[in-house]
Amino acid sequence: MVSPKLAIITAIALLPFTFINGSYGASYYHSGLHADSAEITPFDSQKVNLSVYYASLSQPCATFIIKNLEEIFQSDLINTVNLQLVPWANAYVNKTNHSIICQNGPDECELNSLQACVLNVFNEVNKHYALIYCFEFLVIQGRQKNWQDCFSQLDLPKEPVLNCYNTGTGTEIGQKYINEAAHLYSPHDFLPWVVVNNQSIGREYENFTRYICEAYKGIPAPATCNLH
Ligand SMILES: *[C@@H]1O[C@H](CO)[C@@H](O)[C@H](O)[C@H]1NC(C)=O
Ligand SMILES: *[C@@H]1O[C@H](CO)[C@@H](O)[C@H](O)[C@H]1NC(C)=O
Ligand SMILES: *[C@@H]1O[C@H](CO)[C@@H](O)[C@H](O)[C@H]1NC(C)=O
Ligand SMILES: *[C@@H]1O[C@H](CO)[C@@H](O)[C@H](O)[C@H]1NC(C)=O
Ligand SMILES: *[C@@H]1O[C@H](CO)[C@@H](O)[C@H](O)[C@H]1NC(C)=O
Repeated sequence: MVSPKLAIITAIALLPFTFINGSYGASYYHSGLHADSAEITPFDSQKVNLSVYYASLSQPCATFIIKNLEEIFQSDLINTVNLQLVPWANAYVNKTNHSIICQNGPDECELNSLQACVLNVFNEVNKHYALIYCFEFLVIQGRQKNWQDCFSQLDLPKEPVLNCYNTGTGTEIGQKYINEAAHLYSPHDFLPWVVVNNQSIGREYENFTRYICEAYKGIPAPATCNLH
């Protein structure tokens, strides 16, 4: 269960990034920050599964993560969703030499590994989302090499993630994701690949909140859904 308090802390921690770049400006934060997010606490079985398959250096994925996905953290929707972020989308293992090939080159494999480590180390969605948001914000600015700054900015420990990354665990997790993904889907001609309760929403990914609302069977409906 996600504590609304933590959600607010996360949003505040994210503020410095949103103020940097005009196109992802402060406007989202002015629309009723987490108002009433404590009201809905559905059973886990009622939650909607939202899976986002992405590649860490893909611009459309970065935009989706920091702009569209951010909406569920601002509203009460995060409490009704099991969010699963899956880096390594469209990566594959070359069967001849067993190396992993990422769509946007070796740098993307490294950032995918780091993000797999972040997901592995921080189970709480607010924490891992905040870090991945920060990494992807840097990607949009072309400053992804500065990823280490994200830990101090969010006041989260860097060592466990570095340890995971340096021992190759992030890449091992990548292998696992790639194997799993191979059973789920073939490589996509576009990313992000967004799945709501096991149903791909294809090119409508920007409208994913509508699909979450349609899939959610709990009562009462999240306030955000009543606005649509
Ligand atoms: C796999 O790696 C081999 C050896 O480097 C290379 O010749 C081949 O083109 C690669 N195949 C793919 C699909 O990347
Ligand atoms: C494997 O093959 C790929 C594609 O040809 C190449 O980019 C990569 O460097 C090779 N890896 C190793 C370990 O030889
Ligand atoms: C959501 O995912 C969980 C765990 O993978 C699964 O057990 C559950 O059936 C899924 N729920 C729906 C509605 O697809
Ligand atoms: C999810 O969809 C796949 C096919 O896309 C199907 O094979 C699988 O059984 C489904 N899983 C659930 C839990 O509905
Ligand atoms: C999202 O939904 C709106 C309203 O239904 C529609 O006009 C728009 O085309 C949709 N966007 C995408 C990318 O499907």
